[in-house]
Amino acid sequence: MMKTQRDAHQQKWIRHFENNRLHRPEPDWNAPFHMEEKKRRALAWSLAEYQLGDGGGPCRLIARDAESYRQSSPYTQMVTDHWFREEAEHSRLLSGAVQRLSGTFVTDTFAFRQFQRVRRLMGAQFEMLVLLQVEIISTVYYRIIRKHCGDEPIAAMCRLILRDESGHVSYHRDRLCQDHPGGWNLLQRAWFYFLGYACATVLWLGHGWALRALGMRDGDFVAQVHRGLTSFVRAVVRRTSAVSAGFISPASAKTDPIPAS
Ligand SMILES: [Fe+2]
Ligand SMILES: [Fe+2]
Repeated sequence: MMKTQRDAHQQKWIRHFENNRLHRPEPDWNAPFHMEEKKRRALAWSLAEYQLGDGGGPCRLIARDAESYRQSSPYTQMVTDHWFREEAEHSRLLSGAVQRLSGTFVTDTFAFRQFQRVRRLMGAQFEMLVLLQVEIISTVYYRIIRKHCGDEPIAAMCRLILRDESGHVSYHRDRLCQDHPGGWNLLQRAWFYFLGYACATVLWLGHGWALRALGMRDGDFVAQVHRGLTSFVRAVVRRTSAVSAGFISPASAKTDPIPAS
């Protein structure tokens, strides 16, 4: 990809992140709280683990070549830092929810350590692909929490995080389309689905019981994961086709955003 195109793409997303810092009403954490005990315990446990994973650990790229990727241009550095600033904000919001639920904060888990190892293992491009998968699967998680939590401040927190994650997923879509202007071949798509379902399985093994305790119906999680992965692949096809047909420029914002809900 030409450097000027990459710079234009990064600048577009820097503007997005700067705008997204505005109009963020804080959930009313002090609103009256009523929740069935079984549900409260499940939600507190699940959100405490999520608080660690969603911006609560090392909130930056940690792959072995992360710094050289980040410093490949001033725009790459800026857009990457904006992205992780929003992740840190998720951790802050989740802390508010854990406190509201009288939960216990988590500072380390086996799954979290393995996740960090996977992120360090390969290069920054692979790490970002894994983080994209986590964002797609987390979108499903936060939608289920928003729908079933029965608590307005926690639902408001989910709405804010979903708004951010929609931007993050769209940012990665644009980034990947710039890197693969001819679209993905069959093997790349199969790899994408494989990683996506692997992330979904890890989340389900850790948090599935808590989501069921909240009232999620069997099958909802898998159906939404499949929809999330498929809609991302379709968005990549749409965008790369539109760019190669000359309907939009590579740095254009004129494609369907990945829906937040
Ligand atoms: Fe996040
Ligand atoms: Fe994110």
